[in-house]
Amino acid sequence: MTGKKHALITGITGQDGAYLAKFLLDKGYKVFGTYRRLSTPNFWRLQALNIFEKINLIPADLLDAPSVIEAIEISEPDEVYHLAAQSFVAASFEQPIGTAEITGIGTTRVLEAIRHINSKIRFYQASTSELYGRRNTVPQNENIPFSPSSPYAAAKLYSYWITKIYREGYNIFASNGILFNHESPLRGMEFVTRKVSNAVAKIALGIENSIELGNIEAQRDWGYAPEYVESMWLMLQQEKPDDYVIATNEAHSVKIFVEEAFKIVNLDWHDYIKQDERFLRPLDVDLLIGDYSKAKRDLGWEPKIRFDSLVEIMVKEDLRRWERWLKGEHFPWDAPSYQSEAKILTRSLRV
Ligand code: NAP
Ligand code: GDD
Repeated sequence: MTGKKHALITGITGQDGAYLAKFLLDKGYKVFGTYRRLSTPNFWRLQALNIFEKINLIPADLLDAPSVIEAIEISEPDEVYHLAAQSFVAASFEQPIGTAEITGIGTTRVLEAIRHINSKIRFYQASTSELYGRRNTVPQNENIPFSPSSPYAAAKLYSYWITKIYREGYNIFASNGILFNHESPLRGMEFVTRKVSNAVAKIALGIENSIELGNIEAQRDWGYAPEYVESMWLMLQQEKPDDYVIATNEAHSVKIFVEEAFKIVNLDWHDYIKQDERFLRPLDVDLLIGDYSKAKRDLGWEPKIRFDSLVEIMVKEDLRRWERWLKGEHFPWDAPSYQSEAKILTRSLRV
């Protein structure tokens, strides 16, 4: 052992995994991360943050318990940040069983490995505002009953409870972060904010001429991902494990996000938006607003980047990337590898 604290991040290749890895490296941790053996590697976020050479990668899949056990044995972590999941709500309607296996039971595989290998390891579970579901009371705090509205949320509800069960039953330091939506230029392209910021940048530069969207009336509490990963770390530094809402306490509709994004490039959004039924979900969460007062009181955490700045950060970064691309520059970035969603063959999710 080097004397440094060890952290294991499941899902280090995702948005939060990459930002959290950077945050923990800056704090002096030795950082380990699990990744899936894909036919084509997916390390662009770690490369974009210039930390690819500084982290230690371990192949593991949540569907494969031995690989999870091995990841914990190899990394000997003080803290495990369990972020890996099938995290896209729409895909959970297309692949409900895979989502349950990965996003639900996958958490038990990690907790069981911790219980057997070293029950002193501290565990963070990536819980979510999706647990509150549709037509729920707002603002949502830690005491509002959950009412999941998607296979994803049902799988996350299971993980939320299994985390509490291991905390109470086995005395494991296991905390749930109930994080509301958080976005950034490293957000996956399927999610609506990045889909919009990327399309707005392309439209402004004449590479594309429309965006197809689903329910633009849905409202979300959108924060800035690099700030949210700090809350994960803070939760594991407390005296006792607990559950915390992390949010901004403000909601905006998808429509307002679109309007603000187009304003940045001086275009009128009405000229470019089309509705496409394929992006409607069988059930959709209408309104999420998080009350983060417990996190502010106990963790000293509060959000700094607000909605307008978030939209600006995302659109400007996608503009910069496409401008560089037009000049023939290559750098770690996901967009050019994405097939246009219009060409992907799926049925409407609604019957
Ligand atoms: P993300 O970008 O989709 O990253 C998900 C990660 O999970 C990726 O590293 C992915 O690996 C990995 N993964 C997927 N299936 C796996 C499997 N079978 N075995 C091992 N790893 C697997 O998600 P995110 O936005 O960073 O979110 C992190 C976590 O927080 C997720 O659990 C998400 O559900 C939860 N959450 C997110 C938000 C949000 O607004 N971002 C809010 C609340 C909760 P590949 O790179 O190989 O695909
Ligand atoms: N993705 C997407 N694509 N969403 C669209 C579109 C579209 O074309 N058009 C409208 N929307 C609406 C969705 O119906 C939803 O109401 C809202 O935009 C946000 O969708 P996403 O960005 O896909 O995020 P999400 O809220 O469903 O889920 C994200 O946040 C959760 C926390 O509340 C994910 O990161 C989850 O993993 C996370 O738990």
